[in-house]
Order: sequence, then structure tokens, then C-alpha cells
Amino acid sequence: QTADSLYIINQFAQQFFASSLWDTEEGQDIALSYFKERGFREEIIKKFQLGYSPEKADAFAKEAIAKQYNADLLLKSGLVVNRNQQLLDNYRGRVIFPIHNTSGKITGFGARILKTNDRAPKYINTPENEIYIKSKILYGSYFARTAIDKADECLLVEGYTDVVSLHQAGIENVVASGGTSLTIDQLRLIRKYTNNLTIIYDGDGAGVKAAMRGLDMALEEGLNVKLVLIPDNEDPDSYVNKIGAAAFQDFVKAEKKDVILFQLEVALKDAGNDAAKKSGLVNRMAETISKINKAEDFTKQQDYIRQVSEILKIDEAGLTALVNQFI
Ligand code: UTP
Ligand code: MN
Ligand code: MN
Ligand code: MN
Ligand code: MN
Repeated sequence: QTADSLYIINQFAQQFFASSLWDTEEGQDIALSYFKERGFREEIIKKFQLGYSPEKADAFAKEAIAKQYNADLLLKSGLVVNRNQQLLDNYRGRVIFPIHNTSGKITGFGARILKTNDRAPKYINTPENEIYIKSKILYGSYFARTAIDKADECLLVEGYTDVVSLHQAGIENVVASGGTSLTIDQLRLIRKYTNNLTIIYDGDGAGVKAAMRGLDMALEEGLNVKLVLIPDNEDPDSYVNKIGAAAFQDFVKAEKKDVILFQLEVALKDAGNDAAKKSGLVNRMAETISKINKAEDFTKQQDYIRQVSEILKIDEAGLTALVNQFI
């Protein structure tokens, strides 16, 4: 009941934000021009139903109350906040990214500030409520479903704008985790569509760490995980806008690495000639390989054991025994 009402409120809000973007002078001058400066074309802005929340403190709240929407539900939706007994807009002066669930209903919003500063967060997102459960949401999943199925692969990026820009570049099998580390529910959602996950994260330390954190979990869910690292100080959005759609597609193809072997490369470099570090590494690799569900995917596990023992220059049977200790 509450859930249904929240979907209806979100739908109403999306229409309000879209018309504030397209049909008002403020929206066109401030927000539409912002999107265009970022390289978003009108077609993609419309497809993702992007919008704008006006500067006026209660532009949306006033309209919603006038249309008889329930104040408690408006608060719950996160669209309005209570300030000294006044209902005010939570996203005022921000551009709006509606977040659709897999069936296309709007579960929440991400609202980006136009000019970043130290005082205000860059994005304000919908608070947890009956229909917005952060750990279960993948931004873009509704628009990516068909393409994921067709490619039998899901690309995972960090942010809203990465999804939008890659779509515009013709890469549609892409979803975003929303900056947080991957959850088991998000992985299961992906697994409904494909077994092949390609993580496209920033090439900086934080991006690599975030990618690795989800790895064991993804393997346990039976996913084949590949990794693409974007050059430093870029993200998929900025990079595709810099080098163009075709070059970006080539880049992804060329840079796609098996994530287990990637992990090994990094660790091997780090270990150098240190014997203790090296034997620790053998153990860690054995544990990672053990996460691949043996019953379901015996050949896959064997392939890894072969490749990893080759790279580490250790005995295949020995590594097999070690892997089995973790099962
Ligand atoms: P980023 O900081 O990489 O933002 O965070 P971005 O997507 O590149 O956005 P632009 O290009 O600066 O506009 C990645 C994702 O983390 C979440 C958002 O989902 C964002 O898209 N995030 C980030 C927040 O929820 N809140 C924040 O304050 C920052
Ligand atoms: Mn499929
Ligand atoms: Mn980063
Ligand atoms: Mn960005
Ligand atoms: Mn980013």
C-alpha cells in the first residue's frame, strides 16, 4: 500500500522535474545547458527521464500538496523535508537522475548539485524506504536488460553519468552500483540476466580495491568476472566523451582482463622476491579459486588452477590440493 503510493508520488515528481527542465526558462538556462555541456544529447536526456528541481525552496512541495499528496508519504519519499514545520524541497537547484527498477517504475532519485563545493554533498539520494532499498538497486537495469541478454554480458560502472554516457555511445548493457561496494543482492540481479560480469572501474587505488572487494562474492555467485581499468583521473563518462564511442569500445575490448589473473599479477608484482609473501599469495589464490562452485563449474576451476600454477611456477597437483583444503 505504502509502496504503491510511493511509486505514484515518484512518478508525479519525475513529471514535475522533467517539465521544470524542458518547459521553464530557469530549467533550460541552468540545467539543460548543464547537461549539454557534459555532452548529453536531448535524446538521451529524454530516454533516462532526467530532470531539474528548481531553486525555489518549495516549488515541488507546494505543487504536491496542492495536488493532495499525503505529507507523511512525501516525507517518506525523501522528495520533501521538514524544516521548522515547513515542507521544503530536498533536491532544490539540482539536476535529477530518476532511478528505475527493472520493470521501469521509479524507485528513487539521485540529485546532483550543479557546481560542486565543500559544504554540500555532490549527490543527494533517496533515503531508504519501502521501495528504495539501496543494496538491491542497480542504476540503469531497466534500460540495460535487453542489451545484457543480447550480449550475454553485463558491464558494471560506478556512477549515474557513466551509464548515461555509455548508452549514448551505443553501449547499452551497462548498470551502475551507485558508488558503493557491490552487494550480494545486486550480484543476484545481474545473475538473472547473465553469468558474465565486466567491472569497469577507475584505474586509481580506490577503483581497484572496490573491484576486488566484490570478487569472491561474485565468484561464489557463479559469475565470470572480467575487469577493465579506466586511466587515472578519468571515469567511463569522461573517458568516452574524450576519446569517442568507437575508440572506447576498442579500449574495453583490448583492456578486458580476467579478474583472478589480474589479482595475481598485482600481488606477484608486490611480492617481488619475498618468499613469505609469495607463499601467502599462493594461499590466497587457492582460496579465491576455491570460491568457484566446483560442482557447477569444474572445468572453470581446473582452468584457473592450470593458469595460476603456471604463472606462479608451482606444481598443479599441489595447488589443487591446496584449493581443496578451502572447500
Ligand atoms: P563519482 O564521484 O564518481 O560521481 O561517484 P560521478 O558519477 O562521476 O558524477 P559526476 O561525473 O561528478 O557528475 C560515483 C557514484 O557514487 C554515488 C553516485 O551514484 C555517483 O554516480 N555518489 C557519489 C553519491 O551517491 N553521493 C556522492 O556525494 C558522490
Ligand atoms: Mn541470457
Ligand atoms: Mn575514483
Ligand atoms: Mn564523472
Ligand atoms: Mn565518477
